[in-house]
Amino acid sequence: MVLHEIREEIAILTINRPEKLNALNAETISGIHQELVAAGRNKQIKGIILTGAGNKAFVAGADIAEFSAYTPEQGSKLSRDGHELLFTFIETFHKPVLAAVNGFALGGGFELAMACHLRVASEQARFGLPELTLGLIPGYGGTQRLAQLAGKGRALEMILTADMIDAQKAYQWGIVNNVFAADQLMENAIALMKKITAKPGLALHAALKSVVSQYLPDHNGFETEIHEFGKLFGTNDFKEGVSAFLEKRKPAFSGS
Ligand code: COA
Repeated sequence: MVLHEIREEIAILTINRPEKLNALNAETISGIHQELVAAGRNKQIKGIILTGAGNKAFVAGADIAEFSAYTPEQGSKLSRDGHELLFTFIETFHKPVLAAVNGFALGGGFELAMACHLRVASEQARFGLPELTLGLIPGYGGTQRLAQLAGKGRALEMILTADMIDAQKAYQWGIVNNVFAADQLMENAIALMKKITAKPGLALHAALKSVVSQYLPDHNGFETEIHEFGKLFGTNDFKEGVSAFLEKRKPAFSGS
């Protein structure tokens, strides 16, 4: 259900159910979770790129067939488990995660892309939250993260109309960081991730943690920033970065 390859210290995870447009069933969610846990532990891996198999879809949503007969209790559990295993898990992951959106990103697929730290899209990508047409609402963070990314008015428009938007509009609305021709999407995603992973790892982690913390319940973003900022003064990478600047040379970070 999930393919993985490692290129230049980046794990590329490909959700591989193209015959169902990569819809997220329980097995796929668990598969992505396990791949992320493994990538998190592997010191050779500095960042993760998520994409979808085939040229049609990133992920066309949660698997509608799987939840079609769920009770309210099962529905709540589906949402809660999804946050824990995948969506909040990615948002709070200690290594950068980038979504390379290669086609339809609908419902849970759009929510998956929004849980990632960054998003790039192919010109063919389409984004939408069609849950209201199923008599539901987005249940994997879409009601929260879309407003954070694009603003409340645009989030309400997308959720209440269930309309899709194209990649250019997603770019204009700040939902994706960049748009590329389909055949150049992955090389550009890797180039962006390499630029990020070249930064000293402890500072990178502290930056991710500080920015994300304002969006987490019971977290104080400013306090997190103060704490993380102070901690970095005790690192070798800080000493090296400052010395290199003053000595007008390139820094050689050790990751400590
Ligand atoms: N869950 C389960 N299966 C899905 C799916 C989903 N979210 N999205 C697509 N599929 C399946 C289809 O049932 C179909 O399977 P089949 O060949 O066994 O019948 C296969 O993927 C191909 O999809 P199809 O609808 O035939 O492709 P299309 O090109 O006509 O339409 C979409 C593409 C994306 C517009 C359409 O598949 C769609 O609307 N999907 C559901 C999107 C959605 O509501 N997501 C939110 C879920 S909460």
